[in-house]
Amino acid sequence: MLNNKKIILGVCGGIAAYKAIELLRLLTKAGAEVHVIMTRAAQEFITPLTFQTLSSNPVHTELFNLIAEREIGHIALADRADLLIVAPATANVIGKIAAGIADDMLTTTVMATKAPVLFAPAMNVNMFTNPIYQENEQKLRRFGYLFEAPVSGTLACGWEGAGKLAAPETIFESAVAALTEKTLTGRTILITAGPTREEIDPVRYISNHSSGKMGYALARAARRRGANVLLISGPTALAAPDGVTVVNVTTAGEMQHEVMARVAGCDAVIKAAAVADYRPLVRNSVKIKKKADSITMDLVKNPDILAGLGEMVRRPFLVGFAAETDALSENAVKKLNEKNLDMIVANNVTQPDAGFNVDTNRALLFFRDGSSSECGLMSKEQLAGTILDHLARHLTGR
Ligand code: PMT
Repeated sequence: MLNNKKIILGVCGGIAAYKAIELLRLLTKAGAEVHVIMTRAAQEFITPLTFQTLSSNPVHTELFNLIAEREIGHIALADRADLLIVAPATANVIGKIAAGIADDMLTTTVMATKAPVLFAPAMNVNMFTNPIYQENEQKLRRFGYLFEAPVSGTLACGWEGAGKLAAPETIFESAVAALTEKTLTGRTILITAGPTREEIDPVRYISNHSSGKMGYALARAARRRGANVLLISGPTALAAPDGVTVVNVTTAGEMQHEVMARVAGCDAVIKAAAVADYRPLVRNSVKIKKKADSITMDLVKNPDILAGLGEMVRRPFLVGFAAETDALSENAVKKLNEKNLDMIVANNVTQPDAGFNVDTNRALLFFRDGSSSECGLMSKEQLAGTILDHLARHLTGR
């Protein structure tokens, strides 16, 4: 996701400095080349060796380093960066940058870079709410600097309130968003994810293996591209993506109700959910007792939500998914045509690295105009990005 991206991670002196290690891990895992700059105070909390080992790059601590000056110069680091993250960012460093002071490696690099800069502040609640700090933050925001707000909780100093560093995953998400072109700004995208559950009795249900990973990856990818995202989700164990409106549902009927109630005003609908095609005709109000050697159950068809959207007179751009175990292309194209879709993502769910409940997928994309595109093995995050890039191109001019 961050392959070929050069990111500078500035670490200031605060108890939250240790959380920058997890952020560094997320960034490198996503493929970024990370160069860490530590302030003098940061080195009181954590050693440069930790960051050096995990980033596989030397850690910058001094403004004037003769070896580095001869090889690249301290400004070169600022020039090479695609993004600069300061996490944790102290009131002191934010104040210095707001005042135009560049007296160490970190402040100099922030002042010198043309790359986007993302601050993740962490400090005592009284420092955070101090009007001097607030004015500094507002000033930097006006100049286009990005901020990931601290969260509330018990602070290291014993106070309760806002000032805790945002979770590394949240800062990571903002970093990826900062590096993503805003091709869907002003668009509203409705995405469905996860399985549906159809109850047989109070303890049993019919469902499938969907984890929601594909749909949630799509929701994050759409949000990063600037879209307003509505995520209608069946039961999953996943955390709600930042900045996304999540509506939780259980059954296909509930999913249909929520989709139809919200589709007006949407530019596109992406149906990644694995909706149960059938539900029990009768839901037993008490647990079915184990008596007979075999039992039969009548099932009735659930509404086809996507097909219903395809019948709308003024309908949004429709992206379906096809979960197939055989005749992948034929079945997918049939669904594209029968459900009146603009695009369908066909995945073979019998492959161990694709489909249900894995982090990767392989897909064939088919479009209404008869064209198609193959996406080999990739992470669901990457596939989501590819699908959204196609979607953004198709929405242009609509
Ligand atoms: O959630 P993960 O673990 O990450 O797994 C991802 C996935 C395998 C669930 C996903 O990639 C996927 O293939 N989703 C579609 C699953 C599915 O229901 O496929 P289908 O071929 O049965 O349905 C075709 C399309 O019609 C789908 O877009 C589906 O959402 C929609 N549908 C189906 C039945 C129904 N009653 N209403 C619908 O809207």
